[in-house]
Amino acid sequence: MAREVTHTATGPKIITPADIDEEKGDVAVCLCGLSEEYPFCDGSHKRAEGEDPDERYKYVDGERRRVAVEFRDE
Ligand code: FES
Repeated sequence: MAREVTHTATGPKIITPADIDEEKGDVAVCLCGLSEEYPFCDGSHKRAEGEDPDERYKYVDGERRRVAVEFRDE
């Protein structure tokens, strides 16, 4: 599966000890690209459950949309 995400940051996020979740004792970094608290996981990855591995998706206003990809010869 593939998922299109938009990143607007132009630099890194430095993770410090203050970013550690006091209850869990860890830092969860989002790898799905859907978090509203990026770069940290906020549980939004649950929306990606059920994605077809052969499809490409983009999430618009919280809704899953399939993206058509067309490759053209140049
Ligand atoms: S991995 Fe992206 S929100 Fe959890």
